[in-house]
Amino acid sequence: MKTTLAVIKADIGSIGGHIVPSRQLIAEVESYVKKNGLEKGLLLDFNISHTGDDVAILMTHTKGKGNEEIHKLAWDAFIAGTEVAKKQGLYGAGQDLLKDSFSGNVKGMGPAVAEMEFEERPNEPFLFFAADKTDPGAYNLPLFLAFTSPMHNAGLMLSPAMKDGFKFVIMDVAYTEGDRIIELNAPEDLYDIAALLRDNQRFVVESVYSRGTGDIAATVSTTRLHNIAGKYTGKDDPVMLVRVQGAFPATGEVLSPFNIGHYVAGFMRGSHTGPLMPVKRNSTISYFDGPPVVSSSAYCVHNGLLTEPADAFDHPYWDYVRTNVSRKATEIRQQGFSGLAMLPYGELEYGGIVEKMKKLDGKFTVR
Ligand code: 13P
Ligand code: 13P
Ligand code: MG
Ligand code: MG
Repeated sequence: MKTTLAVIKADIGSIGGHIVPSRQLIAEVESYVKKNGLEKGLLLDFNISHTGDDVAILMTHTKGKGNEEIHKLAWDAFIAGTEVAKKQGLYGAGQDLLKDSFSGNVKGMGPAVAEMEFEERPNEPFLFFAADKTDPGAYNLPLFLAFTSPMHNAGLMLSPAMKDGFKFVIMDVAYTEGDRIIELNAPEDLYDIAALLRDNQRFVVESVYSRGTGDIAATVSTTRLHNIAGKYTGKDDPVMLVRVQGAFPATGEVLSPFNIGHYVAGFMRGSHTGPLMPVKRNSTISYFDGPPVVSSSAYCVHNGLLTEPADAFDHPYWDYVRTNVSRKATEIRQQGFSGLAMLPYGELEYGGIVEKMKKLDGKFTVR
């Protein structure tokens, strides 16, 4: 039996601005999925969590990737949650539901999706990541380091199971006609992979495969909301699934690069640069609508049944990292709008700046 692991997440409204969904909203999504997914036999199991203002539905089933019934279940659960958001007057009710009616697959409709299908190993540990106030390119550096660098992944030196390296599937997310992808192999193509992944806004790791076994190792949501809505509606807060141990990196090797708190796009109004802070599950958002955050839930899955989540960033070590990342956030904020503290013009998430620049352009004179 092949198990499909799917996470579909959306921002459908939050308390007090873009910070956290209400308990009632989450309870509604949960009871909808339970009643219409689990109890009807569509799902084998599921778990609901939130990271900042984004609600994630993690699901297991046997229907494969991109399954219409599964996607519709998630879409309808978000619609039900949006009704609660509207009733409670939550901010941004239905924010990520960009289309009026469901059309087969939630990809291209607003919610972020990461899915993988595999034959379960006798023990099947994996990590589910969810980030808020940033975009899918935020995972580029951690994935590059976890799957290619012996500085973070000791298994590349020590474990025969990883000796053949990994294949990276990288997507050009600026291309809107379809999925424009390239496949590159680590370690031979390492410098080419780096040359693409340095540009987090254009090239995004979509998936990673073990070259030893051919098995899927990691998958990332690659949605660009801006390309769907044609205007700013929210940042493309990304989710990711990573299988660990055995032919894959150990859990701690995948977590290791997250201690950098590297600067990513997002933060206030999706238009700034901020360091990515590893936080606990169900964390809220605060300073300057940030900083950008990422949570990590560790699970095992067996015959499609999930264990309870273990919170991978709920450990004293990460308190130290969070303190360092807070310092990095404070430092870049000292320069406000200036230079690298904000994203380049083309990445600014508000149309207002375009109007403003047009008006100012007319006022320029040439001496
Ligand atoms: P095992 O010896 O259980 O495979 O553990 C190795 C490991 O993952 C340590 O990080
Ligand atoms: P979200 O994309 O998380 O909704 O945040 C939007 C925003 O503008 C924060 O300032
Ligand atoms: Mg929001
Ligand atoms: Mg969000």
